[in-house]
Amino acid sequence: MKVAIGSDHAGYEYKELLKDYLETKDIKVIDEGTYSSEPVDYPDYAAKVGHSVANAKVNFGIVICGTGIGVSIAANKIKGVRAAVVNTAFTAESAKNHNHANIIAFGSRVSTIEEVKKYLDIFMNTKESVEKRHVNRVIKIHKLEGWWSLNKQGNKQIILIINLVTAFFIETFVGMLLGYFLGRFLDNLFFTDKTILAYVFLFLGLFAGLTNFIKRVLKNINGGNKDEESERNWINIFILLARFHSCCFGALFYF
Ligand code: RB5
Repeated sequence: MKVAIGSDHAGYEYKELLKDYLETKDIKVIDEGTYSSEPVDYPDYAAKVGHSVANAKVNFGIVICGTGIGVSIAANKIKGVRAAVVNTAFTAESAKNHNHANIIAFGSRVSTIEEVKKYLDIFMNTKESVEKRHVNRVIKIHKLEGWWSLNKQGNKQIILIINLVTAFFIETFVGMLLGYFLGRFLDNLFFTDKTILAYVFLFLGLFAGLTNFIKRVLKNINGGNKDEESERNWINIFILLARFHSCCFGALFYF
């Protein structure tokens, strides 16, 4: 089992103690900071833990600040995160059982370290309920984040297919318009050999379309298990390539 842990200055001491506690249980801990009691901004550390959880690098996350509130609000802004503030045995159990929380948030100014350890144990020993009503509610939470997020949860593969098909048709439609006007513009400006231009568009389009499709499918299979930064760069490149893809359809339409 692997866990990501992060805190601000108010939670720093608890973070260090919880790290030791988890390591005695043979749980691998990824420390996302902060690394001292110097005042810092809690959203920075909540975000790091949130990204590790959303990208499935760890089994779950722990965030700590003075109240547990700030870090949970921040972590919940990341798609795929379900962070819950826990300060009783009951909330520790319900957070996992009912809400399928994948991040547990503690307040160092609310609970003692012994209480926090107890809540953490309860959280780890509780299973996510598979009762339909709870599962549906969790799905509804992620619907608020949009379709792609639902794919990442792996709840509905059909949504992936709808997503891909819709994306393909939207891209194609936009591309037809773009390509049509681009083709007209280039035609009027310099090109005489329209066939070569059409083949260039076709080649770029096929390459971009295929890579874009593979990327989407791979991302879904991996459940978003990728480094967030490089993922964002890749997505930008693919969006650019997908535009060429679209232009291909438009250009062919025109020629
Ligand atoms: C820091 O003083 C404190 O505001 C923070 O740790 C947290 O309680 C915010 O929610």
